[in-house]
Amino acid sequence: MKFIHLSDIHLLGTPSDKLYGIKPSKRFKRALKNIRAHHSDADCVVITGDLTNNADPGAYAQLKKQIDGLGIPVYPLMGNHDHRKTFWKFFPEFRDGNFVQYVREFDNRVFLFLDTLVEGEEYGLLCEERLAWLEKQLKRYADRKVYLLMHHHPIRSGLYRMDTVGNFRSAKAFWKLLSRYDSVQHIFFGHLHRPMQAFHRSVSLSATRSTTFQVAYRPDETAEHLTTSVQPAYSVVKLDEEDMAIHLCEYLGEYGVSRVED
Ligand SMILES: [Fe+2]
Ligand SMILES: [Fe+2]
Repeated sequence: MKFIHLSDIHLLGTPSDKLYGIKPSKRFKRALKNIRAHHSDADCVVITGDLTNNADPGAYAQLKKQIDGLGIPVYPLMGNHDHRKTFWKFFPEFRDGNFVQYVREFDNRVFLFLDTLVEGEEYGLLCEERLAWLEKQLKRYADRKVYLLMHHHPIRSGLYRMDTVGNFRSAKAFWKLLSRYDSVQHIFFGHLHRPMQAFHRSVSLSATRSTTFQVAYRPDETAEHLTTSVQPAYSVVKLDEEDMAIHLCEYLGEYGVSRVED
């Protein structure tokens, strides 16, 4: 199978609104255009959270309008900038109980979409209710290849802000639960606004860039370091019987189909 990993699109209320001098709506639109042109055979597109910047209803409306015309199923997640009730007004189908958590099956593979949002906070977690939901799914799909998708990073990133005010606060309970199952193959996450590959024991993890602004890796600084000078990108994930390959695609410049502009 093949799927697209998009993250942190940070849509604003109207398409012409700018964030750090760039238009998130335009950049997202161009990502979808590029996906349609070059990866129309993808089984799905996942967006690992921060769908909006301010949880504006207009931003969710734009998201719905843009993905409805894509022709590939899109599976969105909550990020710390999102708001569940506003999201559900436009996407009521992505819900189990009180959270934006759900399951999708692709032959022998199972994707578990997790909700790490604590509304109004930059950090994320899985409360007892969400951990119980995850445990139920892990039990149910114990003999399948399981992939987790979530916004917050369940490991230390080495980025000061992301590991303090913006961290994932259920890591201990999360990994303890996962240690009881050998079905989890990989975890896809967002939030960092930069690509990252990692392992926790035998479980591999990866993040992709934002389609809007990026975060520079400055381990010597304790200040947030945002940048718009790095190109936006999405990842193409190819899963074969035994292999997984992840390609970062800088869609504004690759393939020669579009120029770098905002
Ligand atoms: Fe973000
Ligand atoms: Fe985030």
